[in-house]
Amino acid sequence: MNLLEPESLYDRIGGDYAVNAVVDSFYEKVLRDDRIRGYFDDISMNAQIGKLKSFLKMAFGDRSVYDAERLRSAHAPLVARGMGDIHVDILIEHMESTLKEQKVPNALIEEAVTIINGYRDDVLCR
Ligand code: HEM
Repeated sequence: MNLLEPESLYDRIGGDYAVNAVVDSFYEKVLRDDRIRGYFDDISMNAQIGKLKSFLKMAFGDRSVYDAERLRSAHAPLVARGMGDIHVDILIEHMESTLKEQKVPNALIEEAVTIINGYRDDVLCR
């Protein structure tokens, strides 16, 4: 860690070890939830888990490398199938409860949720 720079949220949450555990357990919840699982029917979950891990590394770490177009084009077909705010809310709830289970402190959970919410408009192609 460089002492001149504030530690990123990614590191404060617990780095690769913690975020990998969070993403694995998060997708278990997503796939058990009838309200959203249908959107993941044709998706390779191994690939998806890898993509979300690297996305969170960016989102909780170095946001300067964010690729909005990639997030928008990945979700555009889902928006066409009816995905909307309610589905984003459900995913965020699963993320919040997973972070809680992993014993991430509430202040960091709030930071994480604020960051994820910041991608809502791109995900919903607005
Ligand atoms: C703020 C909320 C969300 C974030 C940050 C997010 C993040 C991501 C990321 C990073 C990818 C991989 C994109 C890529 O690299 O190709 C992805 C793909 C995907 N997301 Fe989301 N997502 C969000 C909301 C949702 C919601 C609400 C649903 C459906 C309930 C959803 C379903 C999917 C599916 C099915 C894919 C795979 C698309 C494909 O490979 O064809 N996402 N998401």
